[in-house]
Amino acid sequence: MRTQIGIVGAGPAGLTLALLLQRQGIEAVVLERRDRAYVEGRVRAGLLEQNTVDVMHRLGVGANLDRDGLPHDGISLRWQGETLHVPMRELTGRQVTVYGQQYVVRDLIDACGERGVPVHFEVDGVELHDLAGEPSITFDDGAGRQTLSCDLIAGCDGFHGVCRGSIPAGALREHHFTYPFGWLGILAEAAPAAEELIYAWHERGFALYSMRSPSISRLYLQVPADESIETWPDQRIWGELQARLGVPGWRVEEGPIVDKGITPMRSFVAEPMQHGKLFLAGDAAHIVPPTGAKGLNLAVNDVRLLSEAIGRYFSAGDSSGLAGYGEAALRRVWRAQDFSNFMTQLLHRLDDGDTFGSRLQLARLEQLRRSTAAITNLAENYVGFPATDDF
Ligand code: APR
Ligand code: PHB
Repeated sequence: MRTQIGIVGAGPAGLTLALLLQRQGIEAVVLERRDRAYVEGRVRAGLLEQNTVDVMHRLGVGANLDRDGLPHDGISLRWQGETLHVPMRELTGRQVTVYGQQYVVRDLIDACGERGVPVHFEVDGVELHDLAGEPSITFDDGAGRQTLSCDLIAGCDGFHGVCRGSIPAGALREHHFTYPFGWLGILAEAAPAAEELIYAWHERGFALYSMRSPSISRLYLQVPADESIETWPDQRIWGELQARLGVPGWRVEEGPIVDKGITPMRSFVAEPMQHGKLFLAGDAAHIVPPTGAKGLNLAVNDVRLLSEAIGRYFSAGDSSGLAGYGEAALRRVWRAQDFSNFMTQLLHRLDDGDTFGSRLQLARLEQLRRSTAAITNLAENYVGFPATDDF
């Protein structure tokens, strides 16, 4: 088998890249370890920046998003019974859209099918070869060991994928930060009791009120990093959500929990996101804690930049875009790392054995109420900075 771009991973990064390339007349093949139902059913985050919505529209995959996505003009921050509305649209002219990542993935897979972009599910044992010369990917597809020769490889296989590990030690610099807590997330058949997201600071720990539709709520609780989901029966989850999010006269709407899980929180960046003819994108190259809602948006931004660079390489033989890909992508990655870390450190119970940290958090929250500069900074970062060709 031969193609121009071999893409490993059918998450938002790999699928969006395949479609962006197809639009430019560049051939790609996507290789995915899991089956289609698993990939489409995996409940993840779901907050799309305007840049991400723009890419979906440009690809002509925005019909479901336009119908089912929930555009939001603001978020609220809540602490000690007070609620501060952040009017993002008023402050920045931009908005965000709530639309589950698994729906994004479903829509992208459908579009690949309609446009003849090959996505091979359930491939095992992916290995990359000759990254400096004539690259190829070998894998098992049920019929035996296959070889896919390609001009370039895109490593879009997430944090636990194989692509990053195919880069020789010493050629990548990795930056890690692990938080001592995780998020317990639930999906519940309950009408959201709020129209916009609520990020709550609470002495018992952080909580987030989000949603997927007018009848489905998505909620999160800060829990210790090593927590087992077995210790969280539904009743305990609702009790804790009410305690952390509720205010006099307002309660979280409860209903049957249809999905629950605990995700660890970490920050991670692998620089320079490329090696020879391999280019990393999305979670394969970086992880952010979900508090800033940046993971999916960074993945889409990476492949927007990468597809433009690949386009120039094939249409004009200009490889300068490819050479500068990592540097351009990393500018936004580090901006998002800083913002995600800021939101995380602002809102989570820090367990530092002292009250100094929590008093600083309250002072920062108070500053957001008093300072237009401070709240505008938060809003600008949250909605995402406009896309350019080097950021
Ligand atoms: N071979 C083939 N496919 C693989 C392999 C492998 N060895 N390892 C992982 N994959 C697949 C995974 O099964 C997954 O479908 O690569 C895909 C990677 O997708 P994501 O993890 O969704 O990563 P990405 O596309 O970068 O999207 C980032 O996902 O984790 C969230 O918060 C994150 O929203 C962000 C988004
Ligand atoms: C979500 O709806 O899943 C969500 C929203 C905002 C976040 C994280 C997750 O910051």
